[in-house]
Amino acid sequence: MKYGFFDDEKREYVITRPDTPAPWANYLGSPDYGAIISNNAGGYSFAKSGANGRLLRYVFNGNDQPGRYIYIRDNETKDYWSASWQPVGKDLNEYKSECRHGTGYSIFNADYAGIKSTATYYVPLNSAYEIWALKITNDSGKKRELTVTGFAEFTNNSNYEQDQVNLQYSLFISRTLFEKNRVMQQIHGNLSDVEKSKPVDNKIVTERFFGIAGAEADSWCGDKERFVGLYRSYKNPAGIENGNLNNIASYNENSCGAISAKISLNPGEAKTIAFITGMKYSDEADRIISSYSDTENKINTELNELKNWWHSKFRNLQVNTPSKEFNTMINTWNAYNCFMTFIWSRAASFIYCGLRNGYGYRDTVQDIQGIIHLAPEMAKEKIVFMLSAQVNNGGGLPLVKFTHNPGHEDTPDDASYVKETGHPAYRADDALWLFPTVYKYIAETGDLAFLDQKVPYANTDTGTVYDHLKRAVNFSAQRLGPHGLPAGLYADWNDCLRLGKNGESTFVAFQYYYAMTVIRSFAEYKKDSEYISYINDKQAELKKILNELCWNTDRFIRGFTEAGETIGKRTDPEASMWLNPQSWAVISGFADEEQSEKSLDSVNRILNTKYGALLMDPPYHSHAFEGALAVIYNAGTKENAGIFSQSQGWLILAESLLNHGNRAFQYFMENAPAAWNNNAEIRKMEPYCYGQFTEGKASPHFGRSHVHWLTGTASTVMVGCVEGILGLRPDAAGLKISPSIPSEWKGFTMEKNFRDKRLLITVENPEGKESGCSEFYVNGKKLEEAYIPQEMLTETTEVKLIM
Ligand code: GLC
Repeated sequence: MKYGFFDDEKREYVITRPDTPAPWANYLGSPDYGAIISNNAGGYSFAKSGANGRLLRYVFNGNDQPGRYIYIRDNETKDYWSASWQPVGKDLNEYKSECRHGTGYSIFNADYAGIKSTATYYVPLNSAYEIWALKITNDSGKKRELTVTGFAEFTNNSNYEQDQVNLQYSLFISRTLFEKNRVMQQIHGNLSDVEKSKPVDNKIVTERFFGIAGAEADSWCGDKERFVGLYRSYKNPAGIENGNLNNIASYNENSCGAISAKISLNPGEAKTIAFITGMKYSDEADRIISSYSDTENKINTELNELKNWWHSKFRNLQVNTPSKEFNTMINTWNAYNCFMTFIWSRAASFIYCGLRNGYGYRDTVQDIQGIIHLAPEMAKEKIVFMLSAQVNNGGGLPLVKFTHNPGHEDTPDDASYVKETGHPAYRADDALWLFPTVYKYIAETGDLAFLDQKVPYANTDTGTVYDHLKRAVNFSAQRLGPHGLPAGLYADWNDCLRLGKNGESTFVAFQYYYAMTVIRSFAEYKKDSEYISYINDKQAELKKILNELCWNTDRFIRGFTEAGETIGKRTDPEASMWLNPQSWAVISGFADEEQSEKSLDSVNRILNTKYGALLMDPPYHSHAFEGALAVIYNAGTKENAGIFSQSQGWLILAESLLNHGNRAFQYFMENAPAAWNNNAEIRKMEPYCYGQFTEGKASPHFGRSHVHWLTGTASTVMVGCVEGILGLRPDAAGLKISPSIPSEWKGFTMEKNFRDKRLLITVENPEGKESGCSEFYVNGKKLEEAYIPQEMLTETTEVKLIM
C-alpha cells in the first residue's frame, strides 16, 4: 500500500493518505527548541531537553495524541473539522488532505466544505519557539463566517516524568491567565513575588505562552478539561462545538492554550494567521508575537531561510544515479536523518521519551560520520566535544551528559558517575569509534593540523588529538583478555552481548586492528617512527591471534566469554552466525581475500532476507549463555536475530570494498525506507527515515520496522553509500573515486563540494561492470589512477571516470 510520494524537487515527502500505519513524524527546530510532529499533527515540544524542558504534552503508547491542533468551524452550519485530518477525522471521501514533511517544517493542506487551508508548522532558525501558520481560503463561491481555533496542551511540569506520574504535585503548581493576544501558563506562578534569581526549593516561575498573530483573539481557554468537555475527546471538544471558548483560566487543573478567532471570508478571499507557542516569560512572548504582525511576509521569509539552511548543507553532495530510491535517500532523506541523529542523539522521538539526558559515546561518535561530507565544520566541533569526553586513561565516558564539563567530570571508576548515569563500567568499543570518525574528518578536509589541536580530557589533563588517539589505543592495549584480544568489558557495540569483563570480542578486535592502521597513518605523518614500530608489532600480534583463534571455516566467530566459551561457531545450536564480525573483518582491512569472500558469502547465504541481513541467527531461546541478554527479546527482534539496521550500512560498505557492487546495492535496497514506499504497510514506519531494526524471519511480523529516526543506521548507511557504493574515498592528500555499483547502472553523476572547490563527476559504465576504472580524467587530463590529487583541484573540477 502506498500512502505518499517523494517530491524530490522540493525535498518533501508528501503523504496523500493520512491513515498511515503509524504516526509518520518530522522534526522541527534545533537543540535549543525542538519539536516532533506527526502527519496528523500529533507530537510534543521541548526547550533544551526532551526530559526536563517538555512544554507540549504527548501520550506515549497512545493514539498519536495530543497534538498541535487547529480547528476550523463554519459558524453557519456549525460543522467543524481540523487543519490536519486528525483529531476530528472527517470522512476521507469528503475531506481532502495532504501532509508535506519538509526540512524543518511540515505543511498540512486540507480541502473541505469549500474551505481550503494550509497549516505550516516550523521553528524559525535560531529561535526557541514554534509557529503554526494557517492560511485559509474561501473556495466556495459564497461568503463564509468561520471560527479558527488553535489548541496546545501544556505539560504541568517541564519534567516529563513528573508531568505524567506525579500528579499529586504537578497539577497544583500550574495555572493560566490571558494577556492581550495570548494564554500564559505559569508554573509555580505563586513564586512571582520571590525574586527570579532566588529559587525556592530549586524552583522558579516558569512561563509558557500560546498566542495569536494576524487576527484578534475572540475567546480563549486555559483549562484543558473545560476546552475538551467532560466525556469528550479532541475529536469533538466542547469549546469547538459551541463555537466559544468562554474565556476560562485554569488553576490546579491541566492547563492548555486555546484561542479562537472569527474570520469572515468573501468568495476567493484568503487570510493568514499564526499561532505561536513557546517557553518564554510574558514580555518576551509579547515581543515575539508582535514581530509577526506582518504575518504572511514574515512567515514566508522565515520558511525560505529554513529551507536555504538545510538545502545548502545537502548541496555539498548531490547525486544522480539510475535509482530514484538511492537519489532521494542520499540527496535528502538519509542526509536529513543524519543531521537529526547528529543534533538530537537519542533524545526525543515517539519512542525515546527524552529521559536519556546525554550523548551515548559510541552513538554520537558514529553519528558524526554521517555529516562529515556535508558539514565538516559542524562535525569538527562535535569531534572535539567527544574527545573532551574521553577519560585520561583513553576510554570514552559511556554517557556524556548534556551538561558535560571537560576536565571536571567523574568517570565510571567513580561511584558518583555510575549513580548519576546508570552506566556501571567502561565499554570496550566507545573510544575506538574515534578512529574512523577522526580519519574521515581529516580526509574530507585535509586538515592534518587538527592532530595537533589540544583538547582536554573529561576528568583531568589535556592532550593533542593525536595524543587522545594514542591513549585510546592504549586503553584497549591495557585491557586484553586471556587470548590477547580486546576484553569485553561491560559490552561492545552490542548492548545485549555481555561477554564478561575478561571475555573477548572479535568485533572490537577488528575495530582495534583498524584503529592501529589509522593511527599508523597519522604517526607516519608525524614521523613518529618509534610509535610506528610499536603499532606494527601490536597489529601483527593481533593478526596472528585473530587468524589462529577466530576464523571458523567460512566465518569469523563473535568472541569468547569470560568462562572461555566460544560464541558464534558454525556448530552452535543458536547464534552460530553473526553479521558484524564478517563485515568488520573486511572494513578493518584485516581479512584476506579468501576470508572476505567466504564470510560475506556466508552472510548472504545464512543471514540475508528480503528486508536486510539478520544481526545473527538462529535467535537465542534455549541455548543462551549467561551474558546473551538478547534472549530477553522475542525471537526475530532487535539484537535477538532482528535485522539490526545499523549493521546494514557496514555490510554495504564491506561489499563495496570487495568491489561487489551488485550485492552492496542489493543490501541498500533491502533496507532502504524509500524502497518500501509502495508496500509501506509492511514496514509500517516512515518511508523516508531509518529505524533501529526490522523484525526478522523468526517474527510473525517479518519486515515490520521500529524505533524511527534516531538510529545509528542513518550514519552507517550514509557512509556505506557514499564511501562504498559511490566510492568517494578522500584521504589527506586528495580524493580517490572507486564506485561499486550495480552492473546495470549505465553511469551516474555527482556534484560534490570538496575543500572549497566544486567537483562535477561523471561516471560511465558502458560495459556493465560493478567496479573498476579503465580511464580517468580530471579537467580533461588523463590520469593513471582514479585519484584526484589536491593540487589538481580547480574552482570547478570536472572529473570523468570510465569503468
Ligand atoms: C542501540 C544503541 C547502540 C548500540 C546498539 C546495538 O542502537 O543505541 O548504542 O550499539 O543498540 O546494541
